[in-house]
Amino acid sequence: MTTAQSRPRAAKASGATDLLTVSGLQKHFPVRRGLLQRGKDAVKAVDGLDFTVARGETLSLVGESGCGKTTTGRMLTRLIEPSAGRIDFDGQDITHLSNSRMRPLRRDIQMIFQDPYSSLNPRHTVGAIVGAPFRLQKVQTEHGVKRAVQDLLKLVGLNPEHYNRYPYEFSGGQRQRIGIARTLALRPKLIVADEPVSALDVSIQAQVINLLEDLQNELDLTYVMIAHDLSIVRHVSDRVAVMYLGKIVEIGEQAGIYTQPMHPYTVALMSAVPVPDPTKRGQRTRIRLTGDVPSPLNPPPACRFNTRCWKAKDICRTEEPPLAELAPGHRVACHFPENIASTPAAAAEPAPAPAEAK
Ligand SMILES: Nc1ncnc2c1ncn2[C@@H]1O[C@H](COP(=O)(O)OP(=O)(O)OP(=O)(O)O)[C@@H](O)[C@H]1O
Ligand code: SF4
Ligand SMILES: [Mg+2]
Repeated sequence: MTTAQSRPRAAKASGATDLLTVSGLQKHFPVRRGLLQRGKDAVKAVDGLDFTVARGETLSLVGESGCGKTTTGRMLTRLIEPSAGRIDFDGQDITHLSNSRMRPLRRDIQMIFQDPYSSLNPRHTVGAIVGAPFRLQKVQTEHGVKRAVQDLLKLVGLNPEHYNRYPYEFSGGQRQRIGIARTLALRPKLIVADEPVSALDVSIQAQVINLLEDLQNELDLTYVMIAHDLSIVRHVSDRVAVMYLGKIVEIGEQAGIYTQPMHPYTVALMSAVPVPDPTKRGQRTRIRLTGDVPSPLNPPPACRFNTRCWKAKDICRTEEPPLAELAPGHRVACHFPENIASTPAAAAEPAPAPAEAK
């Protein structure tokens, strides 16, 4: 058994084969304009994502509220149907698998939800909740369901004697552990964790994140971790994808994203991450983004960030920047990226200072 500290991140991320491959993934929610009008409008919640997740890796999806993180997670777990694009899991195209063909795969792909209060049925005991997957999937357990559930409770750091208690008897952090135990029952390969700690007290967020990391090492799990805050997933991510209005604007290895963010949006998000070293706090310029995130019903043309970007030029409103590899394994969709020695665009026009910096 390895520990979180001894985890071989780099080797894992570079050498492993991909468990998940996502290409051109889209989810457009059609909206009706009125009772009689059949409008063609759609909320472009997710608008063309391309990424891979290697076995044993943690890829974090990060971005502000409404950028399409949960919609992406629900498509990966096939709780909702993609509008376009393709999802390959473990060598199989699962994009449009029927419910019956998806059923055996539901053991392999699980989701942890944000809210440990509403995701557990208050009328069921912990034993019934954590044991439900065995019954639903008709899985035989070697020493009976009760023993299997108690082993799972131990695994997530709960007292196995509390098998007969109800969710209300537990704290928020303990309830999230119950949810995690349920998720692990069928030994999944991929877990999509949708903001697994954002509903919890700050003081216990790190404990639950550390638990997820330890479990990953013990059980060979692959994670897609969803967060709106870069600081929460800093230490558990192998790679990070930053989303804005339904698109990935930057994706790369954890170290590159945190030390050399290139997309102005990532730079702004990073500027809000607390600096642990007090001697370096003064060196950080906080960038405050003005304006709201535009509506995904009618996103800005070309670069979707152009209405809030302090570096925006005409080209940003007419030509969509491709998600280009600007450093090894580090892709960025911007005409004027930050933290880069020289690109044709950057060399042509030096970047002005952030207008909203304080
Ligand atoms: N069923 C639906 N019908 C119409 N629009 C939807 C539906 N589900 C989500 N949306 C819209 O899609 C966009 C993306 O939503 P999503 O929940 O994926 O964002 P998110 O990044 O998870 O946000 P948050 O951080 O608030 O959880 C939002 O504008 C949302 O209102
Ligand atoms: S393409 Fe232009 S508007 Fe978009 S992030 Fe880059 S500089 Fe800003
Ligand atoms: Mg969400």
